[in-house]
Amino acid sequence: MRAVLCRAQGKPEDLIVDDIPSPTLTENSVRIAVRAAGVNFADTLLVSGRYQIKPPYPFSPGLEVAGEVIEVAKGVRRCKKGDRVMAVLDYGGFAEEVAAKASDVFNIPDDMDFETAAAFPVAYGTSHLGLKLKAHLNKGETLLVNGAAGGVGLTAVEIGKLLGATVIAAARGTDRLKVATESGADLGVDYTTENLHETVKRLTGGRGADVVYDPIGGPVFEASLRAVAPGGRILAVGFASGQVPQIPANILLIKNISVFGYYWGAYRTLDPALIDKSFKELFSWFSDGKLKPHVSETLPLEKAAEALGSLVERRSTGKIVLTP
Ligand SMILES: NC(=O)c1ccc[n+]([C@@H]2O[C@H](COP(=O)([O-])OP(=O)(O)OC[C@H]3O[C@@H](n4cnc5c(N)ncnc54)[C@H](OP(=O)(O)O)[C@@H]3O)[C@@H](O)[C@H]2O)c1
Repeated sequence: MRAVLCRAQGKPEDLIVDDIPSPTLTENSVRIAVRAAGVNFADTLLVSGRYQIKPPYPFSPGLEVAGEVIEVAKGVRRCKKGDRVMAVLDYGGFAEEVAAKASDVFNIPDDMDFETAAAFPVAYGTSHLGLKLKAHLNKGETLLVNGAAGGVGLTAVEIGKLLGATVIAAARGTDRLKVATESGADLGVDYTTENLHETVKRLTGGRGADVVYDPIGGPVFEASLRAVAPGGRILAVGFASGQVPQIPANILLIKNISVFGYYWGAYRTLDPALIDKSFKELFSWFSDGKLKPHVSETLPLEKAAEALGSLVERRSTGKIVLTP
């Protein structure tokens, strides 16, 4: 089968496409013919050797795929040959075939195409559990979403609205803010031309946001500490800026705020039933037309470097998908 290969720590342009053997089934796993693979910022970190998982070389990036089941290990009941599924992986998705742990494979709704399904699990899964389970976002609260035009950011905007919050989108430039508004954001802040914390304070009548969803870190996170309301919650989702914030505990104490460290992927082993429950609600929202997944670009496998480059250079909106 053909696969995108990362042969050493490097840059997206160092990736190659080569023929490698198809994956073999291990106990409790499922082999899938990949029709589409979702691209994530974490893939750029995998390639540059800065991700929390460090696979042995050579490996294929790719944390999520959609396709057809072509083989299941003995005893697997969750899905069967021929099923249309999406799957979450530690890595390896930028390939014509993958083998996934059965508990990481999810049958997709009939009305969901493969490209949408490939772009779905990481971004929607992260925002749904993060906002509901970790941050306990309540109806009537104000949610500030940083990086609101990006992969996870845009899903946080949609889910925040569905949970009944007023959503303030923060992004770079009017075009990117427009994408967030089209996904339901009520208000917008361009953090390259406006002071994030002052604008959020102004938009919330001086109070600040009840919950902040932050996939960026660095100065945007620091401004969020000031933009959050007394008693508020900040969900630390990621560090796309490359800067891990150091959090002054005195601000947490004085403002009575909580910062939640949150890694969605860990729940695949910590509590797989929770992920099943989360996807059940997300799939019903999708089928009811309440979610509008935003796939901005679909590229062939050979253009994996271009896809990752778009994320590094902050050109992409929503998700990019690769098709083998
Ligand atoms: N905790 C979890 O479980 C979890 C799950 C999924 C993702 N993540 C993390 O969340 C972050 C975002 O992931 P994603 O896949 O949504 O990425 P993405 O689509 O590339 O979105 C990242 C957004 O961050 C903004 N940004 C600000 N500074 C940036 C910089 N220096 N470089 C790149 N982007 C920058 C960009 O928007 P503007 O240009 O408009 O500012 C961009 O839209 C990553 O750190 C990822 O590892 C965490």
